[in-house]
Amino acid sequence: MSKVKPLFEMRGITKAFPGILALDDVSFDCRAGEVHALVGENGAGKSTLMKVLSGVYQADAGEIFLQGEKVAFLHPLESLKQGVSVIYQEFSLLPDRSVAENIFLGREPMRGLFLDKQSMREMTQTVLKMFGDKHNFSAETLVGTLDVAQQQMVEIAKALSLEAQVIVMDEPTAALNDSECELLFNLIDDLRKQGRSIVYITHRIREIKRLADRVTVIKDGKIAARFDHVPETDQIVEAMVGRTLGQFYPELAAPDEIGETVLRIEDCSNARLHNISLDLKAGVITGFAGVQGAGRAALAMAVFGADPFVSGAVTLEGKPLNLTSPRQAAQAGIVMLPGDRKAQGLSLMQSVFDNAFISARAFSTPLGNPFRTNHADRNDIQKLLDQLDTRAASYDVEIKSLSGGNQQKAIVARWLALKPKVLIFVEPTRGIDVNTKSAIYRQMRKLAQQGAAIMMISSDLPEVLGVSDRIMVMSDGRIVAEFPNGVSEADVMRAATHSADEQIVQGVA
Ligand SMILES: Nc1ncnc2c1ncn2[C@@H]1O[C@H](COP(=O)(O)OP(=O)(O)OP(=O)(O)O)[C@@H](O)[C@H]1O
Ligand SMILES: [Mg+2]
Repeated sequence: MSKVKPLFEMRGITKAFPGILALDDVSFDCRAGEVHALVGENGAGKSTLMKVLSGVYQADAGEIFLQGEKVAFLHPLESLKQGVSVIYQEFSLLPDRSVAENIFLGREPMRGLFLDKQSMREMTQTVLKMFGDKHNFSAETLVGTLDVAQQQMVEIAKALSLEAQVIVMDEPTAALNDSECELLFNLIDDLRKQGRSIVYITHRIREIKRLADRVTVIKDGKIAARFDHVPETDQIVEAMVGRTLGQFYPELAAPDEIGETVLRIEDCSNARLHNISLDLKAGVITGFAGVQGAGRAALAMAVFGADPFVSGAVTLEGKPLNLTSPRQAAQAGIVMLPGDRKAQGLSLMQSVFDNAFISARAFSTPLGNPFRTNHADRNDIQKLLDQLDTRAASYDVEIKSLSGGNQQKAIVARWLALKPKVLIFVEPTRGIDVNTKSAIYRQMRKLAQQGAAIMMISSDLPEVLGVSDRIMVMSDGRIVAEFPNGVSEADVMRAATHSADEQIVQGVA
């Protein structure tokens, strides 16, 4: 053991919520100048531990020391003042205030009796400079107009502006693309060099490998393993799930499972997409790879009717389809599952069950449910939530009491219950632990086997390659290559970064 004194130390922390012992005698610390990764399954207690540190929750038992002094924060503003800054998984920004106002909320610089807007703006610009020119917004921009990645940057800028000694990042990359992630990692390297303590919560093993000095695994509210180095992936996973994972990705589609074309897109274009031709067959998972801005998201939006094609022809089960709205798409049996929980209309005050059930009602018409099967009933939803291993005291508790990843599972269940014809998964496993990822992939495969055509868009390339029966590569709003499962990451990346006039690679018939 190193003799270096920790910058903060938590000893024997216990915290119960009604029906759940969220933390059971947990000790955790972080030294100056290190990144300590905190990992574990959804609902393991990671966020709760950090909320106890910052004073959002009070521990039922245990002690916290900051630079050797015993502390007990009753409110996050108190811990902030002492240099502890937590960037939460669910942002706490005010949408109708500017970036600068959000960064300085509760500690606005004053000139006499007045708000010193000028210096607030300048200080904001200084912290934003740390992101280079990547942020595309200014101190005055209203936070409500920013996308998730930009909001994440505002949260980070806020922590940096506080010159916090302890910075906790709870799944900070969940909404960032590759280049934004790289920017963040470099920033973290700098913070480490400056001697700050960084607690880094993630579900992504490669981020642990890239960043961590030490790793602590928490399981069911207890410490399951501590590593003074970065261990092998298997060791982390085993500590997290209590066993080694069997097959992570499901089987591919068997030849006799591949059915008729469900959705045919012929030479379709809009402002962002050019001459897209694509057949989506029943039983097949088609994955889409490409760099950020290649058009994958635009394609999902077009197929889902949110930003429709303006030329070309689309047919659904052989019949012409002219979508002008997502509602029409959903009624036709085309459903999109977006990755951003916040964008999916979680009703935080409603129960887990009602959140999972909501769309089944929202899309039923006076003529009945537009989907192939009957109304998803209570049992279906219950079964899906169980299959996804949704951890909640019961499905009748308010969804906001669930861990972030478990909230996500309710959304996944919501869409799966509708048994749509075409299912578009966008970043389906963002913020989801490895064990549940595997469960979601199996669900995807099951839906395909039941006759759905599946589109999967994910920035996690290994996931796209592992799950998809075939992989389409996009670049500059076009489909530039097609590969069968088994293609290497390198081949896909090569195709993804080639110019758009590169010849189309025909990987499969
Ligand atoms: N305010 C609350 N009321 C009731 N239960 C809660 C509350 N906050 C957390 N819990 C419960 O405590 C447990 C730990 O949740 P926590 O959010 O710490 O998990 P996590 O490890 O951060 O998971 P994830 O990876 O999904 O974010 C879960 O069972 C969760 O449902
Ligand atoms: Mg969490």
